[in-house]
Amino acid sequence: MNATITATAHYVPEKILTNHDLEKIIDTSDEWIQSRTGITQRHIVGKNEATSDLCTQIAKQLLEKRGLSSDEIQIIIICTCTPDYFAPSTAALVQNNIGASKAWGFDLSGACTGFLYGLETGAKFIESGQYQRVMVIGVDSMSTIMDYTDRNICVLFGDGGGGAILESTITEMGIIDSILRIDGSGADYLIMPGGGSRQPATVKSIKSRQHYLKQDGKTVYKFAVKGMADVSKDILTRNNLTGDDISLFIPHQANKRIIDATAARCGLSEDKVLINIGKYGNTTAGTIPLALSEAVDDGRLNNGNILLLAAFGAGFTWGSMLIKWNTHP
Ligand code: UT7
Repeated sequence: MNATITATAHYVPEKILTNHDLEKIIDTSDEWIQSRTGITQRHIVGKNEATSDLCTQIAKQLLEKRGLSSDEIQIIIICTCTPDYFAPSTAALVQNNIGASKAWGFDLSGACTGFLYGLETGAKFIESGQYQRVMVIGVDSMSTIMDYTDRNICVLFGDGGGGAILESTITEMGIIDSILRIDGSGADYLIMPGGGSRQPATVKSIKSRQHYLKQDGKTVYKFAVKGMADVSKDILTRNNLTGDDISLFIPHQANKRIIDATAARCGLSEDKVLINIGKYGNTTAGTIPLALSEAVDDGRLNNGNILLLAAFGAGFTWGSMLIKWNTHP
């Protein structure tokens, strides 16, 4: 038995922060941001908006698109590193908002690789035979942990994401393989030091801006290209595939230059690579489901297409996944 994606949806908050807006608050330029990252604008949450609100919009769309009632969802997995609270989980808030009375669920912290971890986890529940319908949502509200005085990082990230419904199929369609990795020796290169049990919130920790995400961009860049390319090449090789067999490559959207370098190493031509970072920036666990949902809406995926996903993020975490696409099992 395989797990297959039967519906996709995405949502971003209304408010837009352009490169020109950022030029007014920090020493940066639209030219620098576009040429170094490919980003033009990003969406950010409004005052009373949080991750569970974005997830709820996605969850409602997923139910509607697949024609399911909320009672039919058995597990809700929310992939995020910017939950509304430490406790309760974002999954609990989403369950209540959609009235999924027969579900259980949890938050999954895999940073930018979160959605791949979530799909893998959901798929295993389905493959066990015990569950038939799992909702996996990847959303981050990165603006809530951005230091808008630090130009090295605040230009890169945005808010939003997407999700999918996973169901069982007895065909060979759906998720066909995955390679997932974690290596905590890279923890310090991309980290939010304050606010957790290591450094709980104090006046001192807040004054020293420990509650914002910090990144050594150059180091992460190198590991990201190598990490995503290695697992993408490995998954192609062990499935006897080459770049020519891939219909669409949806990589994590952290930097257009990282995507281009990864695609080149995997032998994937430009027309097969989905890049939407220009509109959204890096939405962490949100990038892949957001791009996947846009690809589906744009009619870029046909029955039987082989889809390659790849991600890299804080942890470090990284991974790749192969999906044989079908919309209706
Ligand atoms: O999703 C999680 C994974 N994250 C990533 O994959 C991100 C990986 N890293 C990157 O995408 C890139 O390293 C960055 C976009 C963060 C930076 O690009 P870069 O080409 O590596 O630039 P750099 O760090 O070498 O900085 C070059 C210069 C520096 O000035 P000096 O020291 O050469 O005078 C920076 O101070 O650009 C300067 N700079 C900026 N200038 C204008 C850094 N940020 C900015 C900015 N605007 N926003």
